Amino acid sequence: MADPIKFKGIDRIVYGVGDMASGIRFFNDWGLKRGASQNPSVMFQTLDGTEAELRPIDDPHLPPPIEEGSTLREVIWGVETEADLITVENALANEPSYVNRDGRPACVDPNGLAISFRVTQRREVMVEGAAINTFAHPNARVNQQSTFYNRAEPIEIGHVVLFANDVPAIQEFYVEKLGFCLSDSYPGSGAFLRCRAQGGHHNIFVLDAPDRGPGLNHVAFTVRDIHEVFGGGLHVDRCGWTTQIGPGRHPVSSAYFWYVENPCGGLAEYFADEDYLTEAWKPREIDRTNENYAEWGIGGGIDGHTRRQHLPT
Ligand SMILES: [Fe+2]
Repeated sequence: MADPIKFKGIDRIVYGVGDMASGIRFFNDWGLKRGASQNPSVMFQTLDGTEAELRPIDDPHLPPPIEEGSTLREVIWGVETEADLITVENALANEPSYVNRDGRPACVDPNGLAISFRVTQRREVMVEGAAINTFAHPNARVNQQSTFYNRAEPIEIGHVVLFANDVPAIQEFYVEKLGFCLSDSYPGSGAFLRCRAQGGHHNIFVLDAPDRGPGLNHVAFTVRDIHEVFGGGLHVDRCGWTTQIGPGRHPVSSAYFWYVENPCGGLAEYFADEDYLTEAWKPREIDRTNENYAEWGIGGGIDGHTRRQHLPT
């Protein structure tokens, strides 16, 4: 049996974008930095070097789409060493869709999404969240105001969420071929998967959506703490972007969230304080209900100018 593949996480996501100018403006406002890129590609980076690449929707360099319109076209997963890449090649060599794309082992997953693999280009970064005074630890922060963020600076891309037709096949592919771990499930209709036994709750979540078919739900960007979720959400509201729901809190991963409509496709999410799992974690079967999606959440968001909830129009 081959050694397990040591994943770092998501290294790059690639969007095919109908309106490049809007997409560029969105990710500037979202808090990413521009990276080096070759026309017509536009590259953005999080603090640790995880990349979000925007390409025109009709760019022939893009893999085929899984849905109409602007959307995610490829996920590049980062592994730790060259030896891990060879293990990936061996694991995927029998896949009918296996190719070498720009020097990377690549294939199409059972959802039709292009995936490929490279030695990670992400950097170790140390960014501290705000210390929180709790009853048991009332002096984690002494004679010091907490942190207030004017805007977010995402640290990494934590996960992607996709609509799917065949969740069991996708789960089997990522677990059996690549060694991902099942973290939790909606039995028969949703699988939360993580690429490292020890790590954040999920790196990919696939959700059964037979009426709409495969597609992108959202890409999630990790920020330091709950305060940065709020600060980032308020800032993008002030920039004129539309909140779908947020702030709010997910029971399944415990994370705080804020979801914003992304002109590059689907939603973009700020999140913080997700559960960290290890080999000792036992996957749970969870009912697919609104209450299990959000303990609470503000539809339409908070107005960044008034700091009050958006009122229904
Ligand atoms: Fe998410």
